[in-house]
Order: sequence, then C-alpha cells, then structure tokens
Amino acid sequence: MVDEPHAIKAGAVSESFLSVDAMKSAQTAILHWYDTNRRDLPWRAKPGTKPDPYRVWLSEIMLQQTTVATVSNRYARFLERWPTVADLAAASLDEVLHEWQGLGYYARARNLHRCAKVIAADGGGKFPENAYALRKLPGIGEYTSRAIAAIVFGERAAPVDANVERVIARIAGIEQPLPAAKTAIQASAEQLEPPARPGDWAQALMDLGSAVCTARSPKCLICPASNVCKASAGGNPESFPVKQKKKQRPVRTGIVYWLTGSDGEVLLRKRPEKGMLGAMWEFPSAGWSTKTASPDAPSILALSNHWISQNEPIEHGFTHFEVRLTILHAQWNGSAIPAGSLWAHPEEFENFALPTLMKKVARRQRVPL
Ligand code: ADE
Repeated sequence: MVDEPHAIKAGAVSESFLSVDAMKSAQTAILHWYDTNRRDLPWRAKPGTKPDPYRVWLSEIMLQQTTVATVSNRYARFLERWPTVADLAAASLDEVLHEWQGLGYYARARNLHRCAKVIAADGGGKFPENAYALRKLPGIGEYTSRAIAAIVFGERAAPVDANVERVIARIAGIEQPLPAAKTAIQASAEQLEPPARPGDWAQALMDLGSAVCTARSPKCLICPASNVCKASAGGNPESFPVKQKKKQRPVRTGIVYWLTGSDGEVLLRKRPEKGMLGAMWEFPSAGWSTKTASPDAPSILALSNHWISQNEPIEHGFTHFEVRLTILHAQWNGSAIPAGSLWAHPEEFENFALPTLMKKVARRQRVPL
C-alpha cells in the first residue's frame, strides 16, 4: 500500500521522554486499568468482538464538540433511523439536520451526510481502512481519521483528543503552551503507544482522561500511570497542559425580524446552503453571519409599516465570534413575502431545523422550544 504512515520520518532521531522499561510498565498498567474500568458506551464493541466502521465513525463525528452523555442519549435513535451508511446516504439533508437538532455545530451533520454519500457511491458502502485514506473524506480530520483507524482497523495511529492531550501532556511533562505544544504532544503520544491493541489503548487514554486524569483535581493516587508521570512528580498536574492566554472573541451585531401574520404565524426562511448555519431555518436576520451587512434587510423591512425594537439583544457565542442580535418585531402589512420564506405557527417550529441562536430568539418571544 502507498499510504503515508504516521511514523517518524526516516532519518529523524526522536528522543524518548521515558526509558524503555518505564514505557512498557505504563503501557501494561494503563491497558490493565482499561480492562477493568472501561466505560460501557453504546458505540463500543464488546471485548472480543469486531467494531463496526459505520457505528464508530458516527460516534466519533457526534462526539466532536459534544459530550459523551449527550451523544449517548442521541446515538441509538440516529442508528435506529439509519442503521447503515447506505440508509444515511439515502436520507435528505433536511432529515439529517433535523435529527441533529440540539447537537450543535451543524457543519458536522452536513459533512456526515456528504461523507455517507461518498462511501455509499465510491466505496460501495465500505470505509477506507487506514487513517491516511479516511482523512480525505468530508468531516474526517486529523484526530477522527486516527481514532477510526485505531479503533476499527487496529492501526497504530495514536489519536489525540482533548482528554488524551491532557493525559499525554502530563505524563510527558510538556511545558510548552498549547496550541504550539500539539506537535510535541502528538509525538509523545506516538512514542507511548504500545505495539498491540491500538484501539483499546486510544480508548483507555480517553477513559483515563475522563475519570482519573481530569482537568481539575486529577486523582493521581488511583492513576495507573502516576509512577511514570512527570506532572504528578512535579506536584502540580492540574497546570498541564499549559495554555496560552485567550484573546477575547470579536462581537458581531445584527438584527432579527420577528414578523407575525394575522393568525399568529411567524415568517421563517431557509438559510443558503453555504456559509454559517447553512441550509438551516431562521427568522430572517441580517448583519451578523458575514463580516459585511446582509443586503436583503430592506426587503424584509418593507413587509411591515411599523417595526418595534426590543431592548435586550439576544446573545450567543460561536467558536470565533459572539453575536448580539436585536429583535425587531412587527405585524405583516400583506405585501408579498420573499422567495424561500414561509409562514409557520409556533407549534410547528419543532418541524424545522432551527439553530440554537434562533431558538433563543423564539424563547424570548415566549415560544417554548
Ligand atoms: N470521545 C471520542 N471518542 C470516544 C470514544 N471512542 N470513547 C469515549 N470517548 C470518546
């Protein structure tokens, strides 16, 4: 095969942060800890059984930016609705976005759907079997490709998510701040990864990070790696991984139009496929989702003769910026509504994929969502 391995490049000399013996003892102790303490999670294959690529892929996409508890509650329903990658590929994007409601970061749902289509069409329903090839699929980044390759296909791919990052930064005592430290953490994770059971190893580190090597008050006394851990030996494990001080997120302001018809219905429109919250529904809004103001605000304004502004803006945080939306509400004057918009009664809102930002707007208007 001509795939790029994650191994250290030929010629590079990599100095180990632990002796060979210390490394082996940590590997044995952590895997033993996992065998007796592993979490029973719905996407995990039972010991001795083969993991299913579709189930693992789906769980890894859902778990990006969402907690294990939330995903555990939603995963079974998703699988029941679409038991195979072919079923998911045959669904409409609207259906997938709707099922995704509440999980947030909707680009993941769009990519999930695109990826299912690629696997069903190009791969004949089969997932590629190594991290390098997986990485080329929509929505599958560095970590996710490594996680699937390790868990499903037994590749020594050393996936590093936030929990693993913390565990490795502590064991190796990496003092460089994040995000610059990511390269050193990945290299240390590759050094520490044992020759066998890469899938169990990856999930052992995840569970260890979640239950023992926690961000605040790590439980070093019961940790299987405490005898080799540099951060624990230094007496201040909670200060690892070291973090660069955060910059404040920029604030974008905008307007959202709450237009009601004569029978209490409210104007909704579908957002463009591309861009922020693509293909989701909204109360028409302007000015916040691109850096320059939206040009269609006047066409909405013309739908009423009297707009009233609410005092308190709606506040919502996205990854790279914060939004403050002022609500303008009004009664419709009967002129034609723009293409792509429609009327819906508040009790019908749950049939639309409304992002959290818009749910906050509806809740402010006393619609229980
Ligand atoms: N987070 C991401 N993937 C996970 C997994 N397989 N088990 C537990 N937590 C996870």
